Amino acid sequence: MHVETAIQGVRRATAPWRRSGQRLALVPTMGNLHEGHLTLVRQARELADRVAVSIFVNPLQFGPAEDFDAYPRTEAEDRRKLEAEGVDVLFMPTERQMYPRGREGVTYVEVPGISDVFCGAGRPGHFRGVATVVTKLFNIVQPDVAVFGRKDYQQLLVIRRLVEDLCFPVEVVGGQTVREASGLAMSSRNAYLDAEQRRQAAGLYRTLREIGRRIEAGERDYPGLERFGTASLVEYGFEPEYLNIRRAGDLGPPASGAGALVVLAAARLGSTRLIDNLLIDRK
Ligand code: PAF
Repeated sequence: MHVETAIQGVRRATAPWRRSGQRLALVPTMGNLHEGHLTLVRQARELADRVAVSIFVNPLQFGPAEDFDAYPRTEAEDRRKLEAEGVDVLFMPTERQMYPRGREGVTYVEVPGISDVFCGAGRPGHFRGVATVVTKLFNIVQPDVAVFGRKDYQQLLVIRRLVEDLCFPVEVVGGQTVREASGLAMSSRNAYLDAEQRRQAAGLYRTLREIGRRIEAGERDYPGLERFGTASLVEYGFEPEYLNIRRAGDLGPPASGAGALVVLAAARLGSTRLIDNLLIDRK
């Protein structure tokens, strides 16, 4: 596995593959890799001849009161895991490589509308930071396909919109969410939970599943189901930030009739913010 910290190094490593017509997949991450990330890497391997992974804890997507400094950094272990997965190139840029003019001198990419609701409303500037770093990673690595976890569902839609609007020749693939036996979606932020909170945290997916079950059984009172879900999260010990039922394609309010829906939720357990979602195909 090539490990590169410099932009030119990644370009040099990937150029021969591109010249010989090999397909390149990118899995962008912030490190602290768990089974969820490794599943994305395996999916990338199925989709391409070569796999690149990036690890960069992107300061632009953290708010001033968020956990940028405390975010878990486990570089040596991450490298071992990626090596074992047969990754071809690991890009681990420094902040100076990515933002040479400092955090104040960044040229930003904004995806309006979809960035401003749900997680974007609770975390102003978050999706602008994500869109900016993903644009840079696409320009540096120039992948044919990029795999992002479906757990961050809104992020996936922001990136799809970005690719469409900026005409990137990149196929965006949503990777499946990997869950603990309790149903809790794997996330680096689960490391902040104590034993009791971990037990409570399973209530998030249980709540989403119950809403999914009711919709599949024919219930169509979405505001009522949102109220039920919010109360259920409170009962499990969460402080809910939002729980909404939306169209899966664009997060617009659901119309009656058929079409895919997504139930999206963000909620806090103590100071830890968890998100999850459930896709439902209304027949
Ligand atoms: O999902 C993540 O880990 C990050 O938001 C991403 C896509 C790597 C951008 O920093």
